Amino acid sequence: MKLTFGLLLHLLLSMSTRTLGVQIQADPGVNSDGVIEVELDKVVSLVCEEVVKSGAGVELAWLRNGAAVQLKEGNKENRSSVCVKPIHDDNGATFTCHQRQNSTISSSVTLNVTFPPQLTGSEDITVEEEAEFHLTCDIWANPKVSNVLWTVNGSSVDLEESGLQFTNDGFKTKLSTWKAERVRHEGAYECSVSYFSKEYTKTFNVKLTDRTLKFPLMPMIAAIVIVALTVLLAILSRWRIIMRCFK
Ligand SMILES: *[C@@H]1O[C@H](CO)[C@@H](O)[C@H](O)[C@H]1NC(C)=O
Ligand SMILES: *[C@@H]1O[C@H](CO)[C@@H](O)[C@H](O)[C@H]1NC(C)=O
Ligand SMILES: *[C@@H]1O[C@H](CO)[C@@H](O)[C@H](O)[C@H]1NC(C)=O
Repeated sequence: MKLTFGLLLHLLLSMSTRTLGVQIQADPGVNSDGVIEVELDKVVSLVCEEVVKSGAGVELAWLRNGAAVQLKEGNKENRSSVCVKPIHDDNGATFTCHQRQNSTISSSVTLNVTFPPQLTGSEDITVEEEAEFHLTCDIWANPKVSNVLWTVNGSSVDLEESGLQFTNDGFKTKLSTWKAERVRHEGAYECSVSYFSKEYTKTFNVKLTDRTLKFPLMPMIAAIVIVALTVLLAILSRWRIIMRCFK
């Protein structure tokens, strides 16, 4: 008796949820929070159907963050699918499928686009003594990386000793100084992060050169402009006198 009641309740419940609505089937699958986890550039396919197929020719529509998604003819009635090859911008984007006649009958999923940091290669950097320099590493990733390690010549950078400044805003990490010194700053730098037990590293070979006297470009330009203006004014006033003579 208990069993049949339970069964009946289950049937009733599933019928009531069944009669309402549309549902989205996704590959890769949707978790219980309605989130699809997908790697950057992998394809997500979403299929929307009525929960109970009425066969009544229900028209479906898709929205991405509230904006309509263009659908081809034949991809609207009863069953509609969209394919997404996610870019960075699709992280957190919500895809909603709804009945065209009644947008309250809808279902949504949100993308969680995972991607590693773009950290590779090696850069040669030449800095003049006493000039400023920055070493910047792009550590933007989803999920965020938590630990960044900066090394010079193989051992971790001593900020106090080197006088270098360190910043990390979760997107970029930076070592910088306003005044490069050969003895303190020349060397092979590396920034590295660990992302799902894989190491991502970028190298900078910093070389210092002797200071050269910079040609004072801005004062020169200012001087040239002033001279040119003076000449122009002189010509103009002469011109006025000449014009007056001709009257
Ligand atoms: C849309 O569907 C909801 C839920 O089924 C219903 O309550 C509402 O009355 C419908 N609206 C229209 C305009 O049909
Ligand atoms: C996205 O997926 C990653 C990896 O599983 C997880 O750490 C992160 O919390 C997820 N983000 C959201 C917003 O669900
Ligand atoms: C790193 O090594 C190079 C070459 O041995 C050396 O000239 C430089 O001073 C070292 N840099 C630091 C910061 O120790």
